[in-house]
Amino acid sequence: MAENNLRILLRARPEGRVGPEHFEVSEAPPPAPRPGEALLRNRFLSLDPYMRGRMSAAKSYSAPVEIGAVMEGQCVAQVEEDPTGRFQRGDWVLGGFGWQRFSAVPAAGLRKLEEDGAPMTTALGVLGMPGTTAWVGTTELARPRPGETFVVSAASGAVGSVAGQIAARMGARVVGIAGGPEKCAFVREELGFGECVDHRGEDFAERLRAACPEGIDAYFENVGGAVQKAVFPLLNDFGRVAFCGMVAEYNDAEPAPGPNLMQLVRKRLSLRGFIVSDHPRAFADWRRIGGGWVRDRSLRYREEVVKGLDKAPEAFMGLLAGKNFGKLVVEVT
Ligand SMILES: NC(=O)c1ccc[n+]([C@@H]2O[C@H](COP(=O)([O-])OP(=O)(O)OC[C@H]3O[C@@H](n4cnc5c(N)ncnc54)[C@H](OP(=O)(O)O)[C@@H]3O)[C@@H](O)[C@H]2O)c1
Repeated sequence: MAENNLRILLRARPEGRVGPEHFEVSEAPPPAPRPGEALLRNRFLSLDPYMRGRMSAAKSYSAPVEIGAVMEGQCVAQVEEDPTGRFQRGDWVLGGFGWQRFSAVPAAGLRKLEEDGAPMTTALGVLGMPGTTAWVGTTELARPRPGETFVVSAASGAVGSVAGQIAARMGARVVGIAGGPEKCAFVREELGFGECVDHRGEDFAERLRAACPEGIDAYFENVGGAVQKAVFPLLNDFGRVAFCGMVAEYNDAEPAPGPNLMQLVRKRLSLRGFIVSDHPRAFADWRRIGGGWVRDRSLRYREEVVKGLDKAPEAFMGLLAGKNFGKLVVEVT
């Protein structure tokens, strides 16, 4: 095979903002499959906020990427060759194959992706890990009831866009929070949320209050920071908060001071964090349920596809600054 294996390695651990100096673009010959392994060609790489945590050595729910190692990431790949005979050349598979063009992995553990009418990229977004996160966080933690006000931040993004649509199906009045008029228009008009408030505009906290005249019963937290500060005073008694992530704080060198937690007591709130990988059965459930909604077009989603693996570091830095518009995916080849 003439093509080299383009790989993006972790060069250094960022203290604060991620920059190009933390990545290294490297080329090597494609790996030779060892006994039991298949050679894969990555077609699409998912870029996700959790990768910022993997760049850091701070204690977390998952081990960091080693310095000099290939950056971790989920990919949709095609089988190039499988000496074990389990897969045909060209079969589509899903897995954590990393920020690289080729990988050699044990064929026995590979998960085949069937061509079922949904584009392959949806396995990384609306029907994959982010969509499943929205499903778990909304149905198991935030649990909006009919007529309640459900608020979700990063509402135009991979998780938020799906969480809001699920809450609307559960009968809630859904208010999104997103950055900029274009994203807010998409959230209102395309996703059909009742309202969307621009957190980058003037008087954000007052406009959020006006958009939630009866307070907030359930909040799906994706962002933290100034957005969280504006949401918390609006939470109603017995409100539920699904702590999914706080992307606005991932580049902070020091954790920001938290909200006044006395509100927890006064309002008898329930706050719960979750990690989607603790809910393994939800992935198949969501693919079945959400897949039906994608095929009948009642579940809307948006993807931003960046062409070229070498663009991945810049695209990832943009994700942490809110520059992506929809689920961020890299087309590898
Ligand atoms: N718990 C889990 O298992 C799990 C699984 C998947 C994802 N997550 C979390 O879910 C959240 C959303 O992830 P995603 O994949 O759906 O990403 P995404 O929403 O597609 O992209 C990230 C978005 O976050 C917003 N953002 C970034 N920096 C910000 C800042 N400084 N202030 C305010 N908003 C900022 C931007 O949207 P705006 O421009 O609209 O603000 C940006 O587009 C993240 O916190 C992620 O870590 C958790």
